[in-house]
Amino acid sequence: MDSSEDNSTGIFVNVFTNPLNIFLLSVCAYLLYKIFKSDESEGLSTESEPAGLPPMKRRDFTVAELREYDGVKNERILLSVNGKVFDVTNRGKSFYGPNCAYGIFAGRDASRGLALFRLDKEVIKDGYDDLSDLEPSDMESVKEWEMQFMEKYDYVGRLLKDGEEPTDYSDEEETGDEQKQKSKDD
Ligand code: HEM
Repeated sequence: MDSSEDNSTGIFVNVFTNPLNIFLLSVCAYLLYKIFKSDESEGLSTESEPAGLPPMKRRDFTVAELREYDGVKNERILLSVNGKVFDVTNRGKSFYGPNCAYGIFAGRDASRGLALFRLDKEVIKDGYDDLSDLEPSDMESVKEWEMQFMEKYDYVGRLLKDGEEPTDYSDEEETGDEQKQKSKDD
């Protein structure tokens, strides 16, 4: 056997004998299974604009109010990233629905979990999470996720800090998404 073959066999053996690697591979396999299983059970609902709930009126949420929208207590699924609340019901149900791979984020502030690439319960705080202990590189990552969510999902409003008053959106005639919906209907 030449040395390059020796090397690749060595890496292969290392990956499959190191317990941490085996654990990480199992986590990946489990997440992939969850993602693809829920896609299948929803049929071919991955088209660009899946049918579903109508857009929500613009409003802000306290952490407690957000928690209602977990896809179980309320059919709608909202989550927050970097202080912005998104409606992921129609396009993200296979990720954030009950028993789905990222269901832990449903009705919650997902910022810390997304920043640290973690899915355990410790990344979800009971109260408002100001993220002030995160490293600048983690905050960069939160902002990247926020941009990704802005592109893909409907923005509903802001996540309120403790004691912060909600914005009165009654002057806004229609949200952007309602306008989109209306022009589609016309
Ligand atoms: C460890 C192995 C992992 C694998 C193999 C994996 C794989 C995937 C795949 C295939 C998708 C679907 C992409 C798409 O169709 O658009 C996805 C989405 C996603 N992943 Fe993972 N993932 C892993 C770990 C994680 C972890 C630890 C997090 C924690 C934050 C995470 C957060 C997400 C989120 C939030 C989405 C959905 C994004 C959206 O709403 O569009 N993933 N992942």
